[in-house]
Amino acid sequence: MKRGLLITFEGPDGSGKSTQVELLKKYLKDRGYEVIFTREPGGTFIGEKIRNIILDNKNADMNAMCEALLYAASRAQLVSEIVKPAINAGKIVICDRFVHSSIVYQGIARNLGIERIKGINDAALDGLEADLIFMLNISFEEGLKRKALQKEFDRLENSGDEFHKNVFLGYEVIGKTYSNINNIDASKDEHLIHEDIIKILQSKLN
Ligand code: TYD
Repeated sequence: MKRGLLITFEGPDGSGKSTQVELLKKYLKDRGYEVIFTREPGGTFIGEKIRNIILDNKNADMNAMCEALLYAASRAQLVSEIVKPAINAGKIVICDRFVHSSIVYQGIARNLGIERIKGINDAALDGLEADLIFMLNISFEEGLKRKALQKEFDRLENSGDEFHKNVFLGYEVIGKTYSNINNIDASKDEHLIHEDIIKILQSKLN
């Protein structure tokens, strides 16, 4: 059986990932592909419990390394339970956030260091790599505007403006230095963004 694909979406909070994931899911399903959608942290029964611990505002005292290990723990479960079996069965897996979120949020914005985060995640990924990474880029100012429309904030969203500024800067850095990341201008109309994504995807599907 032909191996499937792992497609991941990355970007700061409010970059429109969920909308693009939905549009892509529909595009692929309409063309007869078997598509599995998942998200991080979470995506499995165990991972969703870990997600609740990570995002709970009552855990404001969580140590940064504890946070990084919990994200990696959720990822290890998702990879072994969902992603690897689906790819081995020839399916396309779309994941809303993956390891680059840890590199940016924990490695850069929480200042734990990219190499340490990569080390933890090498263990969690057990050799798996994404086939296509789409990074949705918006400016920090646009992100703040979109956030202002939101009513409730989880623990990560409550981590302060400086943390979020560093998330934006972090994404900018990895978008420029990691050659396997596809940078997408997410300030455009959502249908134009979708078209950009499809153009890149087609070269992988062929
Ligand atoms: P979620 O509600 O899924 O955010 P979004 O809708 O923006 O994707 O919450 C996930 C939060 O966790 C988000 O603020 C990003 C953060 N995160 C990390 O800090 N590290 C990680 O490895 C992942 C996957 C997410």
